[in-house]
Amino acid sequence: MNLKEIILEARAKNVAIGHFNVSDIAGLKAVFNIAREMDLPVMIGVSEGERDFIGVRQIAVLVKSLREEYNFPIFLNADHTHSIEKIKEALEAGFDEVLFDAGKESFEQNIALTKEVVNMVREFNAVRGTNVLVEGELGYIGGGSVILDRIPEGVSIKSEDLTKPEEAKRFVEETGVDLLAPAVGNIHGMFEHVSDPNLDINRVAMIYQAVGIPLVLHGASGNTAIDIQQSIDAGVGVVHINTEIRAAWKRGIDMAMLSRPKEITPYKILPEAIHEMEKVIREKMKIFNKIS
Ligand code: G3H
Ligand code: ZN
Repeated sequence: MNLKEIILEARAKNVAIGHFNVSDIAGLKAVFNIAREMDLPVMIGVSEGERDFIGVRQIAVLVKSLREEYNFPIFLNADHTHSIEKIKEALEAGFDEVLFDAGKESFEQNIALTKEVVNMVREFNAVRGTNVLVEGELGYIGGGSVILDRIPEGVSIKSEDLTKPEEAKRFVEETGVDLLAPAVGNIHGMFEHVSDPNLDINRVAMIYQAVGIPLVLHGASGNTAIDIQQSIDAGVGVVHINTEIRAAWKRGIDMAMLSRPKEITPYKILPEAIHEMEKVIREKMKIFNKIS
């Protein structure tokens, strides 16, 4: 099955595909280990910064090698890509999905640019015989996967500022995207000691009804399990997690450093980070797949 079929199958079962961002091979190992342990398809996401660090072609080769060696459904997304050049780079490297993020642009400009990307990817698919998906973003939910002490600059979770179902419908019809990432009260990053603000589940349902394609829930670190599951019931087919994985990575490194301050061998330190990340990823996969 290709990625589109896998996401549609998840929607039909009222579950969602886990999309986990990674910055290094430790993160990749943690995601892959849990996906295999639970026998569930999974997506790896790399933002522009994350893939510049690992290497655009290098992360594509790593994911492809896992998929082939283990005959396992693991897919790669060029998360939050802001330029046509970087979309082209990801296509050439062999990514399975590109998220073109013009969510900060005006509505009309977002439509025009996203349409250009969809046309380009369709042409690429026709020539190369691939099935690369395009995700569009409508609404701004903040930039970084960081620990927050306030709602990020430029982000609003007020009802009147969230993605409107009628605009989402026009956006999807005019651009032809395969997946849509709306602003439904979600924010990138998370608060340290309290849950993120509640999601507007009713809006998720109205947007899904209006567009008829799977929705992608970004910024799901810090959201409650019940909010995430209700958003899946309302039309979400993919859920993105990054901040909680980054925090787990840091926790694991700190623990290793504290307990064994003389240890200098990276492959003896990093397993603690992998273990902490695995715990987060396992819990999230259970939520997305409604496993108790
Ligand atoms: O695209 C990445 C995700 O939306 C990450 O969001 O950092 O809040 O988990 P998060
Ligand atoms: Zn995101």
